[in-house]
Amino acid sequence: MTWWRRGVIYEIYPRSFQDSGGDGVGDLRGIVARLPYLRWLGVDAIWLTPVYPSPQRDFGYDTTDHTAIDPRFGSLADFDALVAQAHGLGLRVILDYVPNHTSDQHPWFRDAAKRDWYLWHPGDPPNNWISVFGGPAWERDPDSGQSYYHAYLREQPDLNWRNPAVREAMLGVLEFWIARGVDGFRVDAMRQLLKDPLWRDNPPNPGYVPGMPEYDSLLPVHTADLDEVQEVVAAMRAVIGDDRLMVAEVYAPIERLVRYYGEGGHGAHLPLNMHLISTPWDAEAIAALVERYEAALPEGAWPNWVLGNHDRPRIASRVGPAQARVAALLLLTLRGTPTLYYGDELGIADVPIAPHQAVDPGMARDAVRTPMRWDATPHAGFTTAEPWLPVGEGQGVAAQREDPRSMLALYRRLLALRRGSDDLAEGGYRTLHADDGVLAYARGERTAVALNLTGEPRPLPVTGGIVLSTHSGGDGAVLRADEGVVLTI
Ligand code: NOJ
Repeated sequence: MTWWRRGVIYEIYPRSFQDSGGDGVGDLRGIVARLPYLRWLGVDAIWLTPVYPSPQRDFGYDTTDHTAIDPRFGSLADFDALVAQAHGLGLRVILDYVPNHTSDQHPWFRDAAKRDWYLWHPGDPPNNWISVFGGPAWERDPDSGQSYYHAYLREQPDLNWRNPAVREAMLGVLEFWIARGVDGFRVDAMRQLLKDPLWRDNPPNPGYVPGMPEYDSLLPVHTADLDEVQEVVAAMRAVIGDDRLMVAEVYAPIERLVRYYGEGGHGAHLPLNMHLISTPWDAEAIAALVERYEAALPEGAWPNWVLGNHDRPRIASRVGPAQARVAALLLLTLRGTPTLYYGDELGIADVPIAPHQAVDPGMARDAVRTPMRWDATPHAGFTTAEPWLPVGEGQGVAAQREDPRSMLALYRRLLALRRGSDDLAEGGYRTLHADDGVLAYARGERTAVALNLTGEPRPLPVTGGIVLSTHSGGDGAVLRADEGVVLTI
C-alpha cells in the first residue's frame, strides 16, 4: 500500500480548524463537518496534531493519556466517526504520536513505582543539557530533591526509552490506534528519544553567535540523533508495518535526516524534510537543496517536502503573498509527498497577536496557529464564540472558491494537475536552470516547471506549452513578475 507516494498530506491543527461545540476551540466534530471541503480541495490524508487529554501547556504535546481523546476535542466515539467519515470520502487519517515525553500530570509520572519510566538524577542536574525551548533541561523536584530531564517544557518530562516497560507501553499505543483504523502516524521528536546513558555534557557550538536561540549554544550530540535511535525507529516501524504510513519529525542536516529511512527500508516511510522552511528563497539555494536531497536518498526511499507547520512562520509571511503562489507551485511539483499546512491554501499569513491574546508566550507560534477562515460570518465561520486565537483578516474559503484567481483556486488546480500527471506524481527530477532568480526543472519525460522567484519579469528558460500558471493570460514567452508555470515539453 503506497497511496502516500502519490498522495498529499494536509496538516490540521485541531484547535483551529472548526469549532462545533461553541467554545471557541476547534474539535473533532468540526473536522468531520469540513471533510467534504478537503475532499473537494483534493488532498489524500489528514494529519491531526495531538487530540489526547492534556493540560495544554504545549497544546497536546503534553499528554496525560495517549489512548484517549481530550473532552475539548470530543470523545473516542467522535474519533471513530471521524475515521469512518474520512474513509468514506477516500481520505486517510494520520495521528500525531508523542513518544518522547508525557505531561507531568500523566499518571505514570505521578506513580512512585514508575520512577524509572522517566530520567531522574539524584540531587542537582548532572550536566549542562539545555531544553529545546531554552533554560536548563533538568527540573528539580522539591519533594524528592531529585532532578528529571525534559527536552521541552518542564511540564513535559522525557520518558526513559531504555526501560523495556516504557517501550512496551508506548508501542502498545500504536497498536491501540491501529485497531481503531488509523492510516498512519507522525512521530513527534523522533531524534530525541534516547540520550547518552553516561549523561555527558554537550560540547559548545563553535558556530553560536549571541542572538541565536539558547538551545543552539551547545551541540546536542548527547541528547539528539544518537545512533541507537535508529533501533527505536525500526521497532516502531515493525508495529506500524507496510499497510500504514510512518512519518517522522526530524530536524536534521540532510545526510542525517535520510538515515531515518532505516536500513533496508525498516525505518520511517517519510522522515519529514523541513529544509524548504529554512532555505533562503533563492533559485540557486533551492536547486542546491533539491539536488543534495535527491542525491542523499537511499535506494528505494521516497522523498517528501514541507513548506510550513504549526511551529514555524507561515510561508505567506516568509516570502510574501505573491511569492506564496510560486511556493505553492514548488511544493506541489517537486518529486515526493507534499505536506500542506492548513490555511496555506488560502494564503493565510502570520496573524499579529497582542500580548493579552498570547497563549504560547515567547514562542512566536500563536501567530501560525490561528483559526481557519471559512466564510464572511463573524469569526470567519470558525466558531460562534470568542475564538481562542484571533482569526485575522483575509478572505476565507467561501469567497476564494468563487474566484478563479484566488490562492485556493490555484491550490485546487495544482492538486488536480498533480493527481492526473504521472510525471508530476512519480517522474524523476532534473534541474534545468537555476540563475538570476529563476528556477526551472524537469519532471519525468514531458513536464517542466519554471519559477520566477523575483518581482520582475525574466526570460522563460524552457520551451513548451503552458498547462498551468500562477497568473492568468500572458503569452508564454516570458515569466512575469512572481510567476510560476508548469509546461509540457
Ligand atoms: C514538535 C512539535 O511539532 C511541537 O509543537 C512541540 O512543541 C514539540 N515537538 C514537543 O512535543
